[in-house]
Amino acid sequence: MTPDDFKRQAAAEALKLVEAGMRLGLGTGSTAAHFVELLGARVKAGLDVLCVPTSEATRAQAASLGIRLTTLDETPELDLTVDGADELDNDLRLIKGGGGALLREKIVAATSDRLVIIADASKRVATLGAFPLAVEIVRFGHIATTNMVRDLANEAGCSGTIGLRAGRDRQPFVTDGGNYILDCAFGAIEDPEMLDEALKMIPGVVENGLFLGLADLAIVAGPGGILTLEANWDAGDDE
Ligand code: 5RP
Repeated sequence: MTPDDFKRQAAAEALKLVEAGMRLGLGTGSTAAHFVELLGARVKAGLDVLCVPTSEATRAQAASLGIRLTTLDETPELDLTVDGADELDNDLRLIKGGGGALLREKIVAATSDRLVIIADASKRVATLGAFPLAVEIVRFGHIATTNMVRDLANEAGCSGTIGLRAGRDRQPFVTDGGNYILDCAFGAIEDPEMLDEALKMIPGVVENGLFLGLADLAIVAGPGGILTLEANWDAGDDE
């Protein structure tokens, strides 16, 4: 089994939570793409759900599969969102944004009754931060904003290389919202809440990839089987 097989297993498990008539948030990334593909097959077989995608990429994939789509403006309350993550800890704190969709992902997650994270076991960590933290910033004054991110992150106990994300064309990567992304290689983030608060104080920062207190359940598939982690922080024992 490859990591991609485990991603698909987690996605298939999450699909069991979907019921007819639900309003769903669809995440972004390779794991979420498995979920969308499997959901598409169910829709083709007659399941009726209404979905809000968290990125233009997911919108295109879901549309190609015939999944009924809406916008968050038309449907501002969702029953369930299924999304991937770059890292998750035992308290279901997450790092997201590797795919650059963190802003829409966080807005959609916040408006959902339940956020379910699907991942392969390599995403589980004891301490967040090995994966660089994405920070979405407005383009105007981005150098000044980068300096402020560095300074305030330092005060929150985090330091490391901060790079402006580049796209395949080597130009700065631009998000669906028209912003830039800073990738912050802080290493271990000992106090994610403190860092999150510090980043939120910076005017040019739109959002950051720390998802704290948002995930209700994580479905993690690995060589030992499928593990479920609940937001009450009790680990499932079915691995
Ligand atoms: C996109 C995300 C993704 O969920 C995260 O990057 C995980 O991606 P993948 O499932 O491809 O490993 O946050 O912004």
